[in-house]
Amino acid sequence: MATINEYISSNKDRFLEELLDLLRIPSVSADSKFAGDVRNAADYVQQKLVQAGADIAEVCETPGHPIVFGQKIIDERLPTVLVYGHYDVQPADPYELWDSPPFEPVIKETELHPEGAIFARGSCDDKGQVYMHIKAFETMMQTNTLACNVKFIIEGEEEVGSDNLETFLEQNVERLKADIVLVSDTGIIANDVPSITVGLRGLSYVEVEVTGPNRDLHSGLYGGAVPNPINVLSEMIASLRDENKHINIPGFYDDVVELSGEERAAMAEAPFDEQEYKDSIGLSDTEGETGYTSMERASIRPTLDVNGIWGGYTGEGAKTVIASKAYAKISMRLVPDQDPDKITEMFTNHFKSIAPPSVSVKVTPHHGGQPAVTPTDSPAYIAASRAMESTFGKVPVPFRGGGSIPIVALFEQILGLKTVLMGFGLDSDAIHSPNEHYGVFNYFKGIETIPLFYQNFAELS
Ligand code: BES
Ligand code: MN
Ligand code: MN
Repeated sequence: MATINEYISSNKDRFLEELLDLLRIPSVSADSKFAGDVRNAADYVQQKLVQAGADIAEVCETPGHPIVFGQKIIDERLPTVLVYGHYDVQPADPYELWDSPPFEPVIKETELHPEGAIFARGSCDDKGQVYMHIKAFETMMQTNTLACNVKFIIEGEEEVGSDNLETFLEQNVERLKADIVLVSDTGIIANDVPSITVGLRGLSYVEVEVTGPNRDLHSGLYGGAVPNPINVLSEMIASLRDENKHINIPGFYDDVVELSGEERAAMAEAPFDEQEYKDSIGLSDTEGETGYTSMERASIRPTLDVNGIWGGYTGEGAKTVIASKAYAKISMRLVPDQDPDKITEMFTNHFKSIAPPSVSVKVTPHHGGQPAVTPTDSPAYIAASRAMESTFGKVPVPFRGGGSIPIVALFEQILGLKTVLMGFGLDSDAIHSPNEHYGVFNYFKGIETIPLFYQNFAELS
């Protein structure tokens, strides 16, 4: 029988081709135009779980996009790993900024990926990383090395807030019994600096609408005497942060857990080059909350960002108009122990309170999520650390990420399960952006590392 590495190397081309097929399915969860494609992606994942050797693989209906559930129980006495990932992707817009079409994957070399990277929407977030788990599972089945029982939850609504997954967890507590959740939906610091994410930020997301006059007005006839909702909205937004980039919402920082000097010193050990960081995104300078480093600002501190703002005339040429309404989408990244519902309420009350009496304000909350931290001294963390040490030749660095995976906190609350975030992407892989890509190196590194996680976890538990 082939060893794990032999099996992977003799199936490399097929492992890659099958991922490219999955990437050709435009499973955009946010846009109902793609609902059929989202389902096709679920069916594809389900079929591949069966082919890889799952005893059960089902497409479970929800009021939204389906959840794929699979399992292979080899021995009730062995520990069970619950693998979570998502097959849905972010919208690919704006299409014109892609160098090749987002759902026609191509492999090209880049500076950071000399062995080639797969360019396609979802290649890194999260289809490429989900597919590593399916191929690692196949590899373990075919080499008779599966060391734990395994269950899979691959959902289709991560990018839109995982609402139906929460209900699914509540309704399937027994069926989802496991010892640990294993997720590859984050990244490593660099291909020669392996790392394990040990914290995620939460999210509160609102849409605001400011209304002034009951119709659009001529800006010469009325301008100067009436509130301009766009001006008002801009002023309101500007007032949300002070000159130290500290967020001005009363109570906003009340539940923030400050890190100790020791913890901050440990964080500063992770390699980070400010100049490289700036260069990589074309900035001459960074900015953020006074008293914190860039790395801290983007991981252990909360934020408030406008994600979109619109209103008035934005077409060609000039139109002298005062719009009746102005809008913005605003997100706040949260850290332990901030609660998204509480923050949304604080924001709403504050935002309404700062509106001048001449306008009316509406605040609509969108999906949110709780922050999460994961332990670094658990058997599962040690198993992940040893697995990565074997394949990368270096002990991975624990670090806190800035993104959000809202379901992670719910795995703990609903199923009582801790999570290990063993992701393989790079920050520069352009997830959610045009030209998203995923290193071929990273894809195969993941497939090699995952079986070692199972082996180490079985030994340690
Ligand atoms: N996989 C990402 C989150 C992520 C990426 C965490 C890289 C850490 C490192 C996930 O798919 C995502 O995009 N989450 C959203 C939240 C969701 C509610 C839309 C996010 O962070 O904006
Ligand atoms: Mn993701
Ligand atoms: Mn995402």
